[in-house]
Amino acid sequence: MEKKGRVFSGARPTGRQHLGNYLGAIRNYVALQDEYECVYCVVDLHALTTLEDTDKLKEWTREMVLDWLAAGMRPEETIIFVQSHVPQVTELHTILSMVTPLGWLTRLPTFKEKVRQQPDNVNYGLVGYPVLMAADIALYKADTVPVGIDQAPHLEFTREIVRRFNHLFGPVLVEPQAKHTDFPKVLGIDGVNKMSKSLNNHIEISASPEEIWQRVRMMVTDPARRYRHDPGHPEVCNVFTLHGFFSPAQVRQIEVDCRSAAIGCVECKKIFARNLSDYFAPFRERRARFAADPDYVWDVLADGARRARAIASQVIDEVKRAVGLP
Ligand code: TRP
Repeated sequence: MEKKGRVFSGARPTGRQHLGNYLGAIRNYVALQDEYECVYCVVDLHALTTLEDTDKLKEWTREMVLDWLAAGMRPEETIIFVQSHVPQVTELHTILSMVTPLGWLTRLPTFKEKVRQQPDNVNYGLVGYPVLMAADIALYKADTVPVGIDQAPHLEFTREIVRRFNHLFGPVLVEPQAKHTDFPKVLGIDGVNKMSKSLNNHIEISASPEEIWQRVRMMVTDPARRYRHDPGHPEVCNVFTLHGFFSPAQVRQIEVDCRSAAIGCVECKKIFARNLSDYFAPFRERRARFAADPDYVWDVLADGARRARAIASQVIDEVKRAVGLP
């Protein structure tokens, strides 16, 4: 089939993925393979801008890629690779940095946020984070970039820098479009904050049925529902929101039964935990199979890097020629 174009996306290696990663990104990465030529990258260099501790990078890369593969990424078609395995990206980063006004970078809301988060570690790489991201995308001439809405400023930056490069040196690079997912923010088991590993309010998609139940049990539901016979308010309950995705056949009945207090939160959570566990059962089975071979993930990534380098080395040559490097 003729593909629509090339997708590129990157994710920092964060280990085992959770429901937020799955609903917000991974599901979409998998679906895009049908229509686009896809390139998916573990951005380990980007991870260095915020990590104090780097000894988890390898393990977290493997765990994340196992989740990607088990979720349905197809390495025979899709290029799956580790950013640092294709060193041309650092060359393009350097070249793009020369046409990036510093003010563009320091004004970005994402940069200001990081400065707030880690005031003692405002490193040079952190300022250049969006330049490296632009290099990621431009190096593969990707035209479509699936990212969360939080990345919109970075995508806008990428478009500007590509336009500027092309204006100065000729039409070499491709200006990409962001493709934002429509899935709303997934809240953690605290029912308040966005699901994230760092807040430890997450549910891993590779969790066993027992582990799923341990996490689901702790989920915060409607705070106004203090007793079993109190009527519930599904519209403010995170368990209910997630039923919408994992319990499509039951969600209407659950809504009625919650409002009338026909079911309690424990029962509602049991249904949710079971559906969640069933939904990911084939995933767990595939993941176990891939994980049984200690080389499998690294073989996939080595092959991905080889294919990525074939594209990257051509584009970097074009870029250098356009800039006039001897
Ligand atoms: N900045 C992205 C994030 O934090 C990760 C990323 C790096 C990325 N390079 C990319 C995303 C290129 C899309 C395309 O989520």
